[in-house]
Amino acid sequence: PGGSPQEVFDATVAADERIEPRDWMPEAYRTTLIRQMAQHAHSEIIGMQPEANWITRAPSLRRKAILMAKVQDEAGHGLYLYSAAETLGVGRDELLDKLHSGRQRYSSIFNYPTLTWADVGAIGWLVDGAAITNQVPLCRCSYGPYARAMVRICKEESFHQRQGYELLLSLSRGTPAQRAMAQDAVDRWWWPSLMMFGPPDDESAHSAQSMAWKIKRHSNDELRRRFVDICVPQAESLGLTLPDPALRWNEERGHYDFGAIDWAEFQAVLRGDGPCNEQRLDQRRRAHEDGAWVRDAAAAHAAKHSAATPS
Ligand code: 3HC
Repeated sequence: PGGSPQEVFDATVAADERIEPRDWMPEAYRTTLIRQMAQHAHSEIIGMQPEANWITRAPSLRRKAILMAKVQDEAGHGLYLYSAAETLGVGRDELLDKLHSGRQRYSSIFNYPTLTWADVGAIGWLVDGAAITNQVPLCRCSYGPYARAMVRICKEESFHQRQGYELLLSLSRGTPAQRAMAQDAVDRWWWPSLMMFGPPDDESAHSAQSMAWKIKRHSNDELRRRFVDICVPQAESLGLTLPDPALRWNEERGHYDFGAIDWAEFQAVLRGDGPCNEQRLDQRRRAHEDGAWVRDAAAAHAAKHSAATPS
């Protein structure tokens, strides 16, 4: 369509078409996408730590193989999202530097400890379940590379969610001790999973603009509500209870009502005062330093290779 670059951009978004890397875009659109995509990628990479904690202690070879595959997927999601973010003109080294120096965030959910094996099930069922609820709409995001990355990632997330659900089901049908372990994990992961969707809509700094640009397709509270509606019946079939006495079906709303979320806890975790914030960043920085020789070797190989082959 004709008109000024802004008019072309607006018409493309209004028509539910994609903005591609070479298209003109408002600078604020670019920086919002870099912020969100970088934080999404950081979440995937940091998210490897809580689960990796149990790879060497998985109760069977089958469970170990599943968990290794899942953690490997998370790494891949991170690299996928860094690549998508790089289409906006920013390098992943710069993004990682911002993560390591606390200038960019990762999801609050990964600042909680994985205390027992059942946490691996609770993370798969609840954290990956919440991630799916949040990420399916992102497949329709107005920025092409992000939307396309989400399609691939959502397919793998459904395996993550199913294996977590199945893990909890086998525990809840096991011995009383296994059942208690599963219930304890759900009690600890339920409320932090609801916080993953972000602050309440009336306290969300970015939602209005992100929804106008069709980056965010549904509000934080709407996706949170959708997630609760999905989880309540699943908890019933797991034979586990959700730690919210206020949970009850509201006929006229057609949704479950649920209790108040502790937003002070959420803000504390975002400030860096969660149970594992320091440990997660320390381990991330150490992994980055320990991996420097791999990056240097790959760069040296690439330089030698490109020098050898005539351009
Ligand atoms: N953890 C950390 N920070 C959060 C947060 C959370 N759960 N929710 C919101 N915030 C931050 C925002 O980044 C923003 O801070 P900033 O301006 O410094 O960036 C502030 O709180 C205000 O929140 P808003 O609602 O205004 O911010 P957004 O519009 O960005 O909405 C979001 C937050 C819904 C998380 C959105 O950024 C989003 O959809 N991100 C992509 C999805 C994502 O990052 N998912 C991570 C989940 S974990 C995962 O995917 C791994 C899985 O495979 C297990």
